Amino acid sequence: SKGTYEFYMLKEIDEQPGVMRRLSQDYLDENGTPIVDPEIVEAASKADRIYIFAAGTSYHAGLVGKELFEKYTGIPTEVGYASEAGYHFPIMSKNPFFIFLSQSGETADSRVVLKEANKRGITSLTMTNVQGSTLSREADFTMLLKAGPEIAVASTKAYTAQIALQAILVKAVGEKLGKQEAKDFDLKHQLALAAEGIQEIVDGKEKFDELAKKYLIDSRNAFYIGRGVDHAVALEGALKLKEVSYIQTEGFAAAELKHGTISLIENGTPVIALINDPVTAELTRGNIQEVASRGASVITIVGKEFAKEGDDIVLPSLNYYLSPLLTVVPAQLLAYYASKDKGLDVDKPRNLAKSVTVE
Ligand code: M6R
Repeated sequence: SKGTYEFYMLKEIDEQPGVMRRLSQDYLDENGTPIVDPEIVEAASKADRIYIFAAGTSYHAGLVGKELFEKYTGIPTEVGYASEAGYHFPIMSKNPFFIFLSQSGETADSRVVLKEANKRGITSLTMTNVQGSTLSREADFTMLLKAGPEIAVASTKAYTAQIALQAILVKAVGEKLGKQEAKDFDLKHQLALAAEGIQEIVDGKEKFDELAKKYLIDSRNAFYIGRGVDHAVALEGALKLKEVSYIQTEGFAAAELKHGTISLIENGTPVIALINDPVTAELTRGNIQEVASRGASVITIVGKEFAKEGDDIVLPSLNYYLSPLLTVVPAQLLAYYASKDKGLDVDKPRNLAKSVTVE
């Protein structure tokens, strides 16, 4: 039940610290060693390429998963929209391993790809929140997200759970392959920091209500920009905001705006800029200057190490590859308040259903 909450979406945002702790407890032992079905680890570590298929928010979690897999296992990883791969099947490597990310486990677009994979004898794993769901039953293996039921149409805690669960598998596979980076990956500690960090952000939620009122609710459109993993979060932040507030929002790789889209920036256009990537932090600052000088109202969401005076939201420190676990939370809260402050039905945006069982 919603308890004292007006909407499930906020309840589910607030549940994320608990989800991080549960995943850590259930999938990592006291030394931080992953507890994952050895058959899954064996199959994934034999792969010469990993393919992640998903839709919507789960696809955005897959984009972060790709970065994690490549960094800590060294296995080249591709992410695809299930809806596209189903009918334009990618050219396969010799020994592929498929991962399906799906909160519901029922997404029709993903089922098409899994059917084809089964026909071709490709080993598959479904990461889902729903035990016994179709994608779980039809894949070789399942790992559960353990996020608890997600009721709001806008996915929040399933996204962070998908990132954490992919990180757990990544560590297991990387260690199995003898990768030093994977052995040194202090995931248990990082997930504890993520839980604390999310808690800190949600404890200050009023700030997002203010920002939404000041910059978003009267706006026709908005942009999210970021580089590296922040680009992945920019796409998710934009989906969240447009899905529940009906403010047309696009997520961009920060430097791409100047290749065309910057012509849409007008006085007061909200641009939400994300900075967690040590390699490109200063370059993104430059992109912020470009839009600010054309009149954009910029909201900055910045990791502690990169913070400067005047930043709007400063995030606690976290491993760069896991930073989306924190960065997405302000985006979720901005979306929530923009929708609520516009008087919309936050949990049931128009034209949408919780799981999409048609192609
Ligand atoms: O259940 P799934 O994770 O397979 O669903 C995929 C998308 O339909 C879903 O993430 C959708 O994009 C959400 N409504 C976004 O908040």
